[in-house]
Amino acid sequence: MEYEVLADQLRCPSGTDALDVAEEMNLSNGLTNQRCFDKLRMEDHDHFLEIGPGNGVFVQDLLKKARNISYIGVDWSADMVAAASKHNAQLMTESQVAFLQGNASILPFDTNAFDKVMTVHTLYFWENPAAQLAEIRRVLKPNGRFCLAFGDREFMQRLPFTSYGFTLYDRPSVEALLQSAGLQILDAELHQEWTKSIFDEVIEKKIHILICQPR
Ligand SMILES: C[S@@+](CC[C@H](N)C(=O)[O-])C[C@H]1O[C@@H](n2cnc3c(N)ncnc32)[C@H](O)[C@@H]1O
Repeated sequence: MEYEVLADQLRCPSGTDALDVAEEMNLSNGLTNQRCFDKLRMEDHDHFLEIGPGNGVFVQDLLKKARNISYIGVDWSADMVAAASKHNAQLMTESQVAFLQGNASILPFDTNAFDKVMTVHTLYFWENPAAQLAEIRRVLKPNGRFCLAFGDREFMQRLPFTSYGFTLYDRPSVEALLQSAGLQILDAELHQEWTKSIFDEVIEKKIHILICQPR
């Protein structure tokens, strides 16, 4: 797949390649997602929102972290919402899990609705990160936790597809955005792992995992 096409698919998986790209993302991003779940310290009855879950295969791992978690995933890809709904069909009939299609820049939820909000590898695609973070803060309960995971700029710019429309960030620039949005960082980890890239090469990844709460 050409780099530009791959970049488009990572931004919004769609069409005949969507499911394959989503499975590659599962292999490549699995450890990071599991680390985020652990760092969020899920509690019984938590209301959880994920922005950009892709095909939603990690949802079942999340639900094992505590009892009676309710989960909503918002993804702007119709194909990912369909795939995630298929993977989690049983949980959806039990109303424990739901997936919505839409741009998370406007979240169709009440203020203070969620105990936990998480997003992994989506920041690069946000048109207005300041507004997006303010929207996340709005839906987060005052004592809630937000987990933001993104690849460090220096690591990401070595990946050939990121020159096609990705906006890359280092930790200080994201900290400034969080601060402006009224979110304070409780914990910051530089998660490093040797893992298979989407090209089947083993690479060292450098991912920032920030845990924040409303100020
Ligand atoms: C690179 S994939 C990452 C998927 C998954 N979080 C993971 O860790 O493998 C980005 C996903 O987020 C979705 N996405 C990105 N920005 C979004 C936004 N602002 N609103 C809704 N969905 C978004 C894309 O459609 C895609 O499914």
